[in-house]
Amino acid sequence: MESNKKHKIIIAVDGFSSCGKSTFAKAIAARLGYIFIDTGAMYRAVTLYALEHGAIRSGIVDEDAVVALLKEIDIDFRFNPTRGASDIYVNGDLVEGKIRTIEVSNCVSPVSSIREVREKLVAIQQQMGRKRGVVMDGRDIGTVVFPDAELKIYMTADPHVRALRRYDELKAKGDNVSLEEIEHNVRSRDEADMSRAISPLRKAEDAIVLDNSFMTIPEQMQWFEARYNEVIANL
Ligand code: DC
Repeated sequence: MESNKKHKIIIAVDGFSSCGKSTFAKAIAARLGYIFIDTGAMYRAVTLYALEHGAIRSGIVDEDAVVALLKEIDIDFRFNPTRGASDIYVNGDLVEGKIRTIEVSNCVSPVSSIREVREKLVAIQQQMGRKRGVVMDGRDIGTVVFPDAELKIYMTADPHVRALRRYDELKAKGDNVSLEEIEHNVRSRDEADMSRAISPLRKAEDAIVLDNSFMTIPEQMQWFEARYNEVIANL
């Protein structure tokens, strides 16, 4: 697939947790030579920082304490050639390897529903996409962060299939978690992400749905290519 050099666009990839958004978004960014931004990693990084600085105790998120910490949190991404993607840093510390634990996953929904957290992270995301040529994955990219994105994809997959994927991922890393616990986390995050008051997960009217429950990565890429070519032809 040829990336159109004249028209760099914004590609918003929103959808449910663990449905392969990052894998998909990373692959299309690599194909197009675009920057890939995983916004979930940013909410996870804030959650990790809150856990490490006493703003979350026994799973209870102290919203005021999280907001108070925000001003000391500086987030940036640095390209890691080994991974072929960017790693996330908080105040200069590499946290990529620490943000996908079940502990962070269990607390990230309440943290991401705090207005001040969203304001701060959305502003950073908009800044990162100002030159276009980005693929950004998250929950509110097509609705809030870049409502003018030229291509919006809304990804979904069967919850059980998603839980199995995350289970395999965590097992491969040596984490000792049960499939039941993960499926519970996946379903409760769906519920929390869709029902929160600020920027809930919902399909933008002009987004195209991609259900990848039974699709391979090459099939998803083929699907994407057709959509990308349509958009570019109509610019
Ligand atoms: O994509 P992920 O599962 O790593 O995202 C972690 C959490 O962050 C998810 O439960 C919801 C939240 N999130 C969000 O509210 N808005 C985004 N743009 C991205 C993620």
